[in-house]
Amino acid sequence: MTGQGEYARAVAWVGGLEGHVAMIDQTQLPGEYVVMRIEDVETIFEAIRRLAVRGAPAIGVAAGMGVVLGVRDWSGEERGGFVGRVGEVCDYLGTSRPTAVNLFWALDRMKRVAMRMTDATVERMKERLLEEAVAIHREDEAMCRAIGEVGAEVIPDGGGVLTHCNAGALATGGMGTALAVMFRAHELGKRFRVYADETRPLLQGARLTTWELMRAGIETTLICDNTAAQVMREGRIDVVITGADRIAANGDAANKIGTYGVAVLAEVHGVPFYVAAPSSTFDLSLTDGGKIPIEERSADEVRRGFGVLTSPENVQCYCPAFDVTPARLIRGIITERGMIEPVSQETVSARLGSATVVN
Ligand code: MRU
Repeated sequence: MTGQGEYARAVAWVGGLEGHVAMIDQTQLPGEYVVMRIEDVETIFEAIRRLAVRGAPAIGVAAGMGVVLGVRDWSGEERGGFVGRVGEVCDYLGTSRPTAVNLFWALDRMKRVAMRMTDATVERMKERLLEEAVAIHREDEAMCRAIGEVGAEVIPDGGGVLTHCNAGALATGGMGTALAVMFRAHELGKRFRVYADETRPLLQGARLTTWELMRAGIETTLICDNTAAQVMREGRIDVVITGADRIAANGDAANKIGTYGVAVLAEVHGVPFYVAAPSSTFDLSLTDGGKIPIEERSADEVRRGFGVLTSPENVQCYCPAFDVTPARLIRGIITERGMIEPVSQETVSARLGSATVVN
């Protein structure tokens, strides 16, 4: 599933309709590289909820495959009943996490495939759903590569790049979004150093981003989240690039908690801030970022991260998993369809007019 010089494959379908999902358990990285064999939809749901698979595009890919696992054992032969079952499984998976719109986008695609097959047998519909899940994965892989191509130019040779959370291969069906830009620039022979924010509380930057960058041979420096201002003031950062979980029609972008703060710092220090994301991360039904649902996670992720109590046991916590960076702080959005720059409702719609996402 992975090897030196290859990008990690966060999730993959193995075999035919009777096959299974192979998924890296990201909660174990970087200490242990564990690939789970998943054969039922409940385990996919749980994997998304507990962040064994995470990152907006990878969640979408896993959900598509989860639909197949949830319907393949349906024994009825009546089409209407089967379509109903597809709807139930999609509704169930849609409650796993609320912010990444790729989840709802992928589930909507799966539902529409089932609804459109008015003449097919149930058996054929099952096969077609698997084809769709695999297509979602393949398309994401291609989008990642295209994002890398479009974005590589923003990385200055000899410069410094800062990123927050993990928007790499682990977070997608391909080579990543923000990290695809870095991987491609590296392939093109540019030399640069990436400063990876640790990304409290679940440390996706420390555990996952540094792991991916170092495997690719990119110069990597891990910093605590609260060091970002200082490295900018010291002139070490020429560009910031992050991923996104949901981008509204006006370009406001939700991403891992702390991203907004980094964007404010970048503005103050005159550092361009870019978001890299595929069209499947845009939610054009929302006029602005204030309408993006923000997940709140358990206080224990802050109080006793990774099992160590670091505060009074019963202290109250506020734990939003994401924040929204307003479009005015974003220099450009790097998509597989090209760069959106400047970022506004007009430029988003000009580039993505046909991308529709349903939630
Ligand atoms: O809570 P997570 O780890 O799923 O959050 C992930 C992020 O915020 C990523 O930056 C985002 O999904 C983009 S992934 C290409």
